[in-house]
Amino acid sequence: MNVPTPPVTVPQADPGAAYRALKGPIDTAVARVLESGWYILGRECAAFEEAFARWQGAARAIGVANGTDALALILRGLGIGPGAAVATVSHTAVATVAAVEMVGATPILLDIDPATYTMDPAELDAVLRDPPGGLPPIRAVIPVHLYGQPAAIEAILATAARHGAAVIEDCAQCHGAMVANRKAGTLGIAAAFSLYPTKNLGALGDGGVIATDDAALADGIAALRQYGWRERYVSDLAGVNSRLDEVQAAILAVKLAHLDAANARRAVIADRYDAALAGTGIAPPARRPGATHVFHQYVLRCPDRASVQAQFRARGIGTNVHYPMPVHAQPAYRGRITLGPAACRATERAAAEVLSLPMYPELTDAQVEAVCTAIRALAG
Ligand SMILES: Cc1ncc(COP(=O)(O)O)c(C=O)c1O
Repeated sequence: MNVPTPPVTVPQADPGAAYRALKGPIDTAVARVLESGWYILGRECAAFEEAFARWQGAARAIGVANGTDALALILRGLGIGPGAAVATVSHTAVATVAAVEMVGATPILLDIDPATYTMDPAELDAVLRDPPGGLPPIRAVIPVHLYGQPAAIEAILATAARHGAAVIEDCAQCHGAMVANRKAGTLGIAAAFSLYPTKNLGALGDGGVIATDDAALADGIAALRQYGWRERYVSDLAGVNSRLDEVQAAILAVKLAHLDAANARRAVIADRYDAALAGTGIAPPARRPGATHVFHQYVLRCPDRASVQAQFRARGIGTNVHYPMPVHAQPAYRGRITLGPAACRATERAAAEVLSLPMYPELTDAQVEAVCTAIRALAG
């Protein structure tokens, strides 16, 4: 007999709710841009860049088309391409690795610390000391601050500095996270943020932003994002088209003003989930001491994931898996990507067990309670 599945009453993500929460000011901002007659790289993008740089504590911010381009443009701006290797992780959105290959560089994928799901700095040290044979020199390292939690950035910076490799922070999932009393994304040479609709700071379409204190790098990237122009119609560099449009910039400026409050709400929800987990035998997500977690995702570890997902589904609660397949195991990458000496074993275990619960600031108290009830029921 087919048991009907109840409708999902708590989706795992709900970008429409983020729009509805700020509908008035967003609609006003969009109408302003539409009426202005100026749609690409104008006043709205400049205003968002300035506001974002101030909020981030960076000297410069450059709006681009998406987070993947943000990573690729930083690599291009640093002159990293064919003949260079870039160390990053396999437990990430495929975009991180795609950006490395977009610029013609060679990725080497390292394993994660299984508690925080972020780059293992000891393995980074090992490959920088003793690079795998045949690999071009490792010129850059991209730690991913995954799920909202900073990677072990201080150890990564120290190791990379010893070997002359640049550190580029993948901040797609950590807008507002702090580490060592600084914003994540201000410690490396530059940081790449995705502004995809479900991110902690999300556009209502695609968007990305780069933050850096390095003025020469910022100038180079600002040229590269628009055909290499420093002066209109004169390509100093062989650039690309990766611009943040005026409508998205205006929407993002509205949402940026609410980002700290939104992150605070995520933290409250995470605490309630933590409390509900007591007695279930499932550990709450680890918090790195000295850092703040902005809970882009609230991720549990469940060896019996399919059954746990089914129990949530039966109660109308959506879950998701970030990410079910490590990058090195994906059909497009399988068998051709260099791995570190740990062979990404912790990554493969994580991919089989991670489970993301509903997490976004617009979750109502009643929805949070419904998720908590479902969590507590796992104990029985
Ligand atoms: C860790 C990580 N890096 C990079 C990206 C790429 O961002 P985008 O989808 O905006 O290109 C994403 C988002 O999908 C991400 O989660």
